[in-house]
Amino acid sequence: MAKMWAGRFKKEVDSRVNDFNSSISFDGRMYRHDIMGSIAHATMLGKTGIIDPAESEKIIAGLTGILADLDSGALSFDMEAEDIHMFIEAELTKRLGDTGKRLHTARSRNDQVALDIRLYLRDEVKEISAQVKALAETLCDMAAEHTETIMPGYTHLQRAQPITFGHHLMAYANMLLRDLGRLSDTAGRMNETPLGSGALAATTYPIDRELTSSLLGFDAPTQNSLDGVSDRDFCIELAAAISTIMMHLSRFSEEIILWSSWEFKFIELDDAYATGSSIMPQKKNPDVAELVRGKTGRVYGDLVTLLSMMKSLPLAYNKDMQEDKEAIFDAVDTVKLCLTTFTPMLKTARILKENMRAAAAKGFINATDCADYLVKKGMPFRDAYKITGTLVGICVDSGKTLETLPLSAYKELSGLFEADVFDAIRLETCAMARGALGGPARESVERQIAWMREKLAAY
Ligand code: ARG
Repeated sequence: MAKMWAGRFKKEVDSRVNDFNSSISFDGRMYRHDIMGSIAHATMLGKTGIIDPAESEKIIAGLTGILADLDSGALSFDMEAEDIHMFIEAELTKRLGDTGKRLHTARSRNDQVALDIRLYLRDEVKEISAQVKALAETLCDMAAEHTETIMPGYTHLQRAQPITFGHHLMAYANMLLRDLGRLSDTAGRMNETPLGSGALAATTYPIDRELTSSLLGFDAPTQNSLDGVSDRDFCIELAAAISTIMMHLSRFSEEIILWSSWEFKFIELDDAYATGSSIMPQKKNPDVAELVRGKTGRVYGDLVTLLSMMKSLPLAYNKDMQEDKEAIFDAVDTVKLCLTTFTPMLKTARILKENMRAAAAKGFINATDCADYLVKKGMPFRDAYKITGTLVGICVDSGKTLETLPLSAYKELSGLFEADVFDAIRLETCAMARGALGGPARESVERQIAWMREKLAAY
């Protein structure tokens, strides 16, 4: 097929170059956005009198028809076309003849593609945000049911201090809230239209960029034509925001994998969200969480692809930039795919409270509270710390816990110990006493949930 730009060439492009150059196999997914952009452009061309308004109307009707036919499947992509932009323009010309050829007046594929990706990603950000928000809301719902579910809090993966499962879940909700903020910041900066930048140096036609900007729902046109066509920082920013979401999901997945193991047994995944082994009949594997953790690496790869692709490009457009699409599309697809299964997996998991409580009872996680008991009775913290350490040592040697050690053993080390020490070191007391802002106490977590729900409502 003859190229639209064939005029200055004496030979046809080698078929291997044609295949190598072609992007329709992956940019075809932007057809709706390409058509939206072209309709706005044609509207502007008609309104400004750059083309005859009657022809502008015909072009708009033609594009609308192509959109309907692509949506219904009546029309499919010509894989010989160089890219989605060329395909749609060629199809329009096939349908309208010379009128179709007027669409590309005062426009280049460079501003066209820079526009299309923004339009496409703007919609994707909305979808990702809705999924992240739904997960954060699920966390609030689950946390509300577990404000008194005692579990060990960890540092270094060693049992550290008592917290509640609700408190733990709300930590992730806070991460996701910041993720929503990052997505919205990215979307805000992305919301400027490069249309009218032309190939690189704008145009001599009296275009109206404010008009196309408002027709397409942008905040403003970009201010420099070289920048408008040649930066992909918005893809990089989005890939970074998505990478951070994946990092959070991956940490959470790691915990879900640990919690599902026989060693922890804090949760049991629903059968619909776990898989078996082909040889070991007893296995119930947390594949979903593992895949989310695994796919995080590939999303980081997408971010690095974009950063590396851009780092040495002279202004303005370079064909290297065609590589932006597969990377950012993969990042977007992957995070959506992960969230689609992650949220219901979490929602349907059985929370094994008794096992969490039993694990919390084993690691001396009330030792800090034991020391604090002495401090409240007037002992300096360092002395109280030492005495408690000695008590823990005695427990370890005798196979006891601080709760089961007799009062006499306490009294031998300090006369300040009374029977009420056992109440002070009860795990429930320890967790519920931590009522400071952000802490695991029931009222504190309830406040966190209420605060979170209010913040989420803004998205
Ligand atoms: N398919 C191209 C891309 O994705 C469209 C822009 C082509 N521009 C050009 N000057 N060859 O980047």
